Amino acid sequence: MPKLTVDGVGTFEVAQGKRLVKALVEDAGTDQLHACGGFSRCTTCRVEFVVGEPEKMTQAEKDTLAAREITAPGVRLSCQIQCDHDMAVKLVSRLEGSGRKDQGSQVADEIQPDPVWTEKTS
Ligand code: FES
Repeated sequence: MPKLTVDGVGTFEVAQGKRLVKALVEDAGTDQLHACGGFSRCTTCRVEFVVGEPEKMTQAEKDTLAAREITAPGVRLSCQIQCDHDMAVKLVSRLEGSGRKDQGSQVADEIQPDPVWTEKTS
């Protein structure tokens, strides 16, 4: 099982292929935001990779990052990423301090919209 390390929180074993946003909430117990429910619309699920940033990227993530002009190195949308290898991330978008009433809508087990895989833009 892949290991997910969350900076300042700990290291957790995660089911192979689990959506990163769900692992952050269910396995690591963090207050990671996911306002749109994992549809690559809101960008509140973004995290900063420390180790293991995936080379592949869904077209939806690529389009959303470009539209929102999110270009910082290592910043990715956790709803569009599967835990299929060891990775370490920093939380950069949490409920605490956000002023939101909750973390966001329910997130499905499968990546939505149906993923079209591409290479990440560097
Ligand atoms: S973009 Fe909204 S939860 Fe990922």
